[in-house]
Amino acid sequence: MYIMQQLNAEYWEQRHQKNDTPWHLKDVSQPLATYIDQIGNKNISVLIPGAGHYHEAKYLWKKGFRDIAICDISPTAIAKIKVKLDEFKGIQYITDDFFKISGKYDLILEQTFFCALNPYYRQTYVEKMKDILSDSGKLVGVLFASHFLFEGPPYGGDIQEYKELFKNILHIKIMELCTNSNKPRMENEVFFICSK
Ligand SMILES: C[S@@+](CC[C@H](N)C(=O)[O-])C[C@H]1O[C@@H](n2cnc3c(N)ncnc32)[C@H](O)[C@@H]1O
Repeated sequence: MYIMQQLNAEYWEQRHQKNDTPWHLKDVSQPLATYIDQIGNKNISVLIPGAGHYHEAKYLWKKGFRDIAICDISPTAIAKIKVKLDEFKGIQYITDDFFKISGKYDLILEQTFFCALNPYYRQTYVEKMKDILSDSGKLVGVLFASHFLFEGPPYGGDIQEYKELFKNILHIKIMELCTNSNKPRMENEVFFICSK
């Protein structure tokens, strides 16, 4: 059973202020980059929830995407991302709780945001994703492929429990062990694509 942690705005803000961000890959997530590379229509709206850093947004921009929204609950995280992306005008910054945002997105990119939430909120996460996906939208990303032996965050999981969770709310197009993860996460990621 998971211990209920107060993973609120204050908690995340403190971590970003102290640069206590061990999850930071310091590069774009390779599975996400590979997915982005094959998208033909660059006019789609993209949301990066729990963004934490700038790499995926920068990658999207360089690939020609312009309708990019970055959401993080921590003002410090957003401020740091803004500095890094200063030259890329037009990116939308949402300093708010993901669960409070509105709008519709054609693509939502998941990377170590799901695992940062208390598992109690996992169903709410998937429901919220359904809520903010456009009719033809896709939720695409990576999830940890195993449980951790320590108290999270991050909170892990396995492919079977993810399938059980997502299948009742979204349509699972792909959910499989990832073969092109960045080195620190090699053999411990599930790649998935879900739609409505
Ligand atoms: C584990 S970090 C991952 C950051 C980034 N996605 C990455 O892969 O490096 C989780 C991020 O989600 C943000 N976050 C946590 N809860 C949130 C919420 N309810 N709404 C929006 N952002 C949240 C945190 O501030 C943090 O930047």
